[in-house]
Amino acid sequence: MRKITTILTETVGEAFEKCGYDKGLGTVAVSSRMDLCQFQCNGAFAGAKLHKKAPIAIANDVAAALKDNAMFSCVEACAPGFINITLTDEYLISYVNELAGDTHLGVPQAEKDETIVIDYGAPNVAKPLHIGHLRSSIIGEALKRIARATGRRVIGDAHLGDWGTPMGLVIAEYKERHPEWSCFRDDFDPKKDKLPELDADELSEIYPFASAKSKVNEEFKDKAHKITFEYQNLHPGYYALGRALVSATIADVKQNFEKLGVSFDLWYGESDSAPYIPELFERLDEKGLLYESDGAMVVDVQEDSDKITVPPIIVKKSDGSSTYATTDLATIIQREQDFHPSKIWYIVDKRQSLHLTSVFRCARKAELVPQNCEMTHLGFGTMNGSDGKPFKTRDGGVMRLSELIRLATEGAMEKLADSDYVSGDKLETAEKIGVAAIKFGDLCNQPSKDYIFDLGKFLSFDGKTGTYLLYTVTRINSILKKAGIGYDEDIKLSGIYSDVERELALTFALTGETYDKAFNEMSPCVLCDSAYNIASLFSRFYHDNHILSESDEQKRRSWLALSLLSRKILTLQLDMLAIDCVENM
Ligand code: ARG
Repeated sequence: MRKITTILTETVGEAFEKCGYDKGLGTVAVSSRMDLCQFQCNGAFAGAKLHKKAPIAIANDVAAALKDNAMFSCVEACAPGFINITLTDEYLISYVNELAGDTHLGVPQAEKDETIVIDYGAPNVAKPLHIGHLRSSIIGEALKRIARATGRRVIGDAHLGDWGTPMGLVIAEYKERHPEWSCFRDDFDPKKDKLPELDADELSEIYPFASAKSKVNEEFKDKAHKITFEYQNLHPGYYALGRALVSATIADVKQNFEKLGVSFDLWYGESDSAPYIPELFERLDEKGLLYESDGAMVVDVQEDSDKITVPPIIVKKSDGSSTYATTDLATIIQREQDFHPSKIWYIVDKRQSLHLTSVFRCARKAELVPQNCEMTHLGFGTMNGSDGKPFKTRDGGVMRLSELIRLATEGAMEKLADSDYVSGDKLETAEKIGVAAIKFGDLCNQPSKDYIFDLGKFLSFDGKTGTYLLYTVTRINSILKKAGIGYDEDIKLSGIYSDVERELALTFALTGETYDKAFNEMSPCVLCDSAYNIASLFSRFYHDNHILSESDEQKRRSWLALSLLSRKILTLQLDMLAIDCVENM
């Protein structure tokens, strides 16, 4: 269905035309002054230049032409040339009822087919998920769902870190500890020889151990470098161990991702780009971009307009091994061949911005993707502790994601301690509330901003929190249940009886604008704002009216329709944020 501002733009554009002005001047936007009007058109200002006439004269003409239109309760020209517009309740009701019956619940559908690849999550092999992965995975998941809801084809790729020096370090350490393993024998045959089971405890401690060791032990460090090179050149034993490490890591991280509602279409890793590396070098070479510098192979990516020095991008190290940039570039070739995306979105810490800028520039120079394929880095900020510094555990370590979820679940459990409302498993409900609290606390911020992780605040039943939103949904559930109305029933709004109902209806009517903004700005926080707005308006409406005991049957039905639609829109928005609702709490 068409967005409300699209319909209004057309109507107002026709009025401009009718008055002898250019139709294109009729652009209508949501008002920035809701106390004055619901929508506004500022076309008279541009019209003044075009038609050599005072803006207010144009605005007056257009307002007069729209006066008798049944859509509007008020169209006013205001000095020096604004056109303020407010809809009639009848029109608003009919639009909202249409939206309630729309298959996409008012979410605007993309006009043409397009494919978006989203690179997010990106855990690293042999490293447990920690809070650094939280932001990438949940922002990425939300963007995937938002883009998908608009009818686009979206592919989520976990892009596991399984190709760099850390792999060499881990394999080298395993080799020192278990030299007898088949994969370390010269005659290892991946078809016949079996690898031993990897011990989960060892897997989780081996990387930090090996990494610390390499800092004090030169000999070990050199070994690890050599192994990285051999692994990257598909040394059968190392490669087989690498694959086993990838599988074990995926099994481990999947559990946490599942709790967060995060899933991927592809579990590709950096290593999956390896087959494309030779092609990458050919193409860089063909374009004459490659040159040698201190034994390494590099490509210049500095641009004239740069205010800082952007160093050349290293695609092959002097020891012959490939870099983080090499796999990122090869992955672009792979994505282009597999999916022809028109957009590739990278949901990666903003501290990696120089790396990704360089990768994109190099990819453009080498024409790895067509001109019209956009590559965008959505750089997110840091999750800080109450001291304003990156969030740490009490003893100063990096907090594991599983630990964070456990803490939030515990906190929610305390809140639920004396609730009699939870039917079913309290712990399961507590985990959903805890996860909703963490996720909403994160997603309601502009992705690029740092934010303070404050679990106490996030778990509060009041204010802009995930907990409050889940609670609001459970309140609506209980009203509908008492009224005997199913969640999928189709009942219609028949009247607007108070200001808060009008505000609520208008917020529903703006669904299309909300989704467009969330998608275009890559900002799940736009949906968080809208969901919070709906929840607070609903709470006011609920506080002011006794829905169930209302004796006027028509009013009661209409109020129930408003409640049902609040629930539908809220739960859809929460689903876009991958936040699960609970039935009661
Ligand atoms: N695994 C990387 C890290 O932990 C993030 C990867 C981001 N994606 C990418 N295509 N570079 O830092």
